[in-house]
Amino acid sequence: MRQKLIDQAEQVLRRNDRGSYTVPTHGLYPFQWNWDSALSALGFKHFDEARAWTEVDTLFAHQWDDGMVPHIIFHERDEGYFPGPDVWSTGRPVPTSGITQPPVAGFAIRRMVDEARDVDLALSRARDLLPKAHAWHEWFYRTRDPQGTGLVAIIHPWESGRDNSVDWDAALDRVSTEGVQPFQRRDITHANPDHRPTHAQYERYIKLVQTFRELDWDTSKLHDGSPFQVVDPGFNAILIRSCEDLADLAERLDQPEIAAASRAMALRGVAALESLWSDDLGQYLCYDRKIGAPILSPSVGGLIPAFAAIPEHRAAGIARRIEELGKSCEYLIPSHDPTAPDYDGRRYWRGPAWLIVNYMIADGLTRAGQPEIVARIMEDSLRLIERSGFAEYYDPITAEPCGGAHFTWTAAMVLEILDQVREAA
Ligand code: GLC
Repeated sequence: MRQKLIDQAEQVLRRNDRGSYTVPTHGLYPFQWNWDSALSALGFKHFDEARAWTEVDTLFAHQWDDGMVPHIIFHERDEGYFPGPDVWSTGRPVPTSGITQPPVAGFAIRRMVDEARDVDLALSRARDLLPKAHAWHEWFYRTRDPQGTGLVAIIHPWESGRDNSVDWDAALDRVSTEGVQPFQRRDITHANPDHRPTHAQYERYIKLVQTFRELDWDTSKLHDGSPFQVVDPGFNAILIRSCEDLADLAERLDQPEIAAASRAMALRGVAALESLWSDDLGQYLCYDRKIGAPILSPSVGGLIPAFAAIPEHRAAGIARRIEELGKSCEYLIPSHDPTAPDYDGRRYWRGPAWLIVNYMIADGLTRAGQPEIVARIMEDSLRLIERSGFAEYYDPITAEPCGGAHFTWTAAMVLEILDQVREAA
């Protein structure tokens, strides 16, 4: 079984490989996505390390001058996706979107170095990528935390990577749809519309893009100019973890300035994250910066902080919370609490389980010394794959495979998880 899964996972990665970048899946997502690429590189490293490094190199080759790494790179024209390059109009030589995504690349780079078989190759590629990833992290704290709170905000739900989470509902509702230009969605021709975001949400997604376009994609103006500013604990934790990892890597590569600056950002971030903890819900919460209030939504965004070096008692709290969630679903970890009124087990980020999230949380909880819950997360992840293949995401109660099929980062996570499970055995 194990070897069969490994072969299948490799096949998925090869099938979605476009030479210097991978598409998340054929059809639904025909370009390069930011955090998909970083996590997919972790899959490639099991059978082709040079190809894994190329994935991350290509991502950073499209970094903007100000440090931002865009969420989509439109390497080739493809009419099957909306919103395409003409809607974004960011004026890049190779078109890109103008917003970003969870900065997990720093973590991926460090892991690829730690596990490298070809150490010389790894160190030379990492040396080149280090200042680029660091510039991206500095860009975040500079442009997305103008008040210096230690926490960065996202200005579009797509930046979170958890596109249609319940977390964004109220904040997105307040975005006016006045003047939104008519458009035709393409996602619902590739995937079941019942699994996808609604039309009302899409209108607001597009309105935000229009707003940023009117600000000429000057990323120093977008935060203050955005009607949507939300602090996502999961997003911040990923940034913090990447800063921690770059700090370690910079020390190893003898780059003391980057090491010190990265360490300082990480420590500030961890301290600030504490303000998002909710004793009532037993997890972290998002915070709506526009109205200055927490968002009382029990989503997995409040559990992802386990990925960063949060205090031990907080990691233990997250482990307890996940155990609790395990009582109302068959397969951990649901992206939204199945007992909450807005839960929807098949609609994208409003309930389904995602392997990349399982992987990041399990990684953090392993570091934090929570092996029991980690074992269940890993076991559930593999049961999902065995039952339902390499889907984009899964119903956490029925295991129904949802969204796109033959999904790159799901396959990459299977290679990672199988490797870790073997090591733990
Ligand atoms: C969806 C997901 C996002 C992912 C993208 C490509 O938009 O919500 O996290 O990066 O698909 O897989």
